[in-house]
Amino acid sequence: MKNKTVIITGANSGIGKEAALRFAKENYRVIMACRNLDISRKVREQIIEVSNNDEVELMELDVSTFGSIRKFCSDFQNRYDQLDILIHNAGYFNHGEPYRESADGIELTFATNVIGPFLMTHLLLGNLRRSKDPRILFAGSNIIKHFFDPKRKIDFLDGQYEEIIKSFTVYKMYAQSKMALTLLTFKMAERFEQFGIKVNAIQINGATMSKETIKKFKPKYKLIAWVQNIFIPPASYMADKYFKICTEEQFNHTTGKLFNDKTEIMLPSPNEYPGFIKQMKQIFGTSVYPAYTENSNVSDKLWALCAELTGNPMITYEKHNLDPKIE
Ligand SMILES: NC(=O)c1ccc[n+]([C@@H]2O[C@H](COP(=O)([O-])OP(=O)(O)OC[C@H]3O[C@@H](n4cnc5c(N)ncnc54)[C@H](OP(=O)(O)O)[C@@H]3O)[C@@H](O)[C@H]2O)c1
Repeated sequence: MKNKTVIITGANSGIGKEAALRFAKENYRVIMACRNLDISRKVREQIIEVSNNDEVELMELDVSTFGSIRKFCSDFQNRYDQLDILIHNAGYFNHGEPYRESADGIELTFATNVIGPFLMTHLLLGNLRRSKDPRILFAGSNIIKHFFDPKRKIDFLDGQYEEIIKSFTVYKMYAQSKMALTLLTFKMAERFEQFGIKVNAIQINGATMSKETIKKFKPKYKLIAWVQNIFIPPASYMADKYFKICTEEQFNHTTGKLFNDKTEIMLPSPNEYPGFIKQMKQIFGTSVYPAYTENSNVSDKLWALCAELTGNPMITYEKHNLDPKIE
């Protein structure tokens, strides 16, 4: 037993489930943070049986809802002291669905993919700091390539909600939310460096989607997903990459990076138009990500908005001096 604990959100399905199995096989204590306990219980049993590791726990979490996040974190803290790895894998991408808000009144894609993980990470900072090698990983997406177009921006930051609702698609919000979480990864890495916490993201180009996931899509998107499933690697392929980034010695000091699906570190694209051929290479390749990520005004604004919406958990954290190592 390595005596290390990993939390994986959305561990009942797809990449999260395969990652839970991978970590369990390697004798980690695995906390499956899932919202549907009925479905997830069966998955947990399968993982325990296949991995022969009974330290696989299931804890309820709806990462789009502040109350659920707070309860999850406090339940975790009542049972465990230390957290070694936090994998923000859960994602909302029910393509074709209309505009929806979370229980806290935040657009659901952003609530699930960005704001919830922001709060959850802050609430678990004390536990992460107790680890000798704490690592956080965000599940990003190649959908951020839309931001190679210099006209693209994160509308959510402008607060023009009426406009957002009028032209809303989950696809558009999903792209913006994954760009936001890439920006958040870089910002968190900067902020948490003082605590020795490494924060990275992986840009997922595609991984086979389960029948249950595809069922959530509207017909046009269902067809795209079925076709896409023929050409992309299985979920276990991406789960292996999660495992590698979160455990390998070579990434001990790696922080503030976006990895591609070969676990190579990607770089920002130059801030000017590179010409047609280079642009095509950027769009179809996996070595660079959009220069939009380098815009510190945008990332400052995003950080401030996340802090405002979640009641500034960093201040609460510092005020209560939650981590014994601070003293
Ligand atoms: N597969 C791809 O081609 C691809 C491409 C790019 C990026 N990604 C990213 O990879 C990650 C994993 O996706 P996947 O392909 O493995 O899809 P998946 O099988 O549908 O997994 C998504 C997981 O997120 C959970 N989830 C959604 N909303 C949640 C909430 N509010 N609270 C808690 N859990 C929630 C789902 O739970 P339920 O089962 O309860 O819905 C499910 O377990 C996502 O972040 C996704 O954006 C995937």
